[in-house]
Amino acid sequence: MNFQLTEEHLAVQQAAREFAKTELLPGVIERDTEAKFPKEQIRQMAELGFLGMMVDPSYNGGGMDTISYVLAMEELSKIDASASVAMSVNNSLVCWGLEKYGSEEQKEKYLKRLASGEVLGAFCLSEPEAGSDATSQRTEAHKEGDFYILNGTKNWITNGSTASIYLVIAQTDPSKGHKGISCFIVEKGWDGFVVGKKEDKLGIRGSDTHSLMFTDVKVPAANRIGDEGFGFTYAMETLNGGRIGIAAQALGIAAGAYELALAYSKERKAFGKPISQHQAIQFKLADMATQIEAARMLVYKAAWLKDQGEDYSHASAMAKLYASEVAMNVTVEAVQVHGGYGFVKEYHVERLMRDAKITQIYEGTSEIQRIVISRGLLK
Ligand code: CAA
Repeated sequence: MNFQLTEEHLAVQQAAREFAKTELLPGVIERDTEAKFPKEQIRQMAELGFLGMMVDPSYNGGGMDTISYVLAMEELSKIDASASVAMSVNNSLVCWGLEKYGSEEQKEKYLKRLASGEVLGAFCLSEPEAGSDATSQRTEAHKEGDFYILNGTKNWITNGSTASIYLVIAQTDPSKGHKGISCFIVEKGWDGFVVGKKEDKLGIRGSDTHSLMFTDVKVPAANRIGDEGFGFTYAMETLNGGRIGIAAQALGIAAGAYELALAYSKERKAFGKPISQHQAIQFKLADMATQIEAARMLVYKAAWLKDQGEDYSHASAMAKLYASEVAMNVTVEAVQVHGGYGFVKEYHVERLMRDAKITQIYEGTSEIQRIVISRGLLK
């Protein structure tokens, strides 16, 4: 067993760390306060190749492995989880499935633009009444000649208004349950496709989360990904990989908060010495660091399994479950270490604490991860 990162991995990690400090950190508090999407920063991330990291270079991707991707996600998420979720959705939930299951025509037309970061993508599964219960899709697509007519509403869609290309999951044959679900590529601007209200959120406030409405949208049959009825499996497989990205995001949020708490504890004095010299703080730091390291091992293991071509559905659910709980625990403790300063925006940890919460909810709640894990155990 080799725990060492390669030269290439270290270079990606260093590039992401540098970018986060120089380009994401300035203005991150203001973007959070104003719920402002990091548009210019995402453009820079596209230039650095962060939006299609694992896509083959023949489709404008970086041709990197999943370990590189989680290293970059971790570093960016230490500073700005709103920027990193846009990246995660584009890489894991949009590019991955298009490359694996898209037709050559779809890859030429859509994947190349998505992988280069020329445009952003969105993954549209959740609905007002189908969040965790993803098989209960109400959005429907009926075939009429060479087109499908798409009707329905999607909720909480990341990159909702900033994306140009949307992967939309819809029922094509309700009588078949989840085996009657399909996935379609839909372009912004098509008649009947309306971007709905922007959500005013607790955390990741800079990310762009919207509802989407589809009314008699004409989708070419050539824009269906895979066979009719393949959409649910497609969505589940996509989420298996997506959960590795979100686990890395949670890890980054935790590590970012820990690094701030560690630095602060060495500067802040109380009772005549730095608070890092008090055992009450030392024990907190020890617990935070231990939990982060355990989460890191789960995240890297899931990424490694994916790179080896092994089954990673179980490992990705474990990584997301654990890393998101660590993100929540560690950020709460980081605020505590900062005392009153931790409660104000200037010190960053309160934002990280708010951002941590979503990692226990999106791409499957912690309860869903437990279902996936326990089903794997009992199989
Ligand atoms: N990987 C591959 N296939 C899977 C799978 C997985 N993790 N989980 C289920 N499936 C397959 C099953 O094998 C089954 O296929 P067959 O019928 O061919 O055997 C099919 O899917 C249906 O599975 P179940 O009978 O288990 O379905 P269920 O309704 O009991 O439960 C679930 C499935 C695991 C709870 C699933 O609905 C689920 O994962 N829900 C959570 C959805 C989710 O994560 N939503 C997040 C939205 S996206 C998002 O957040 C993006 C963003 O903006 C950041």
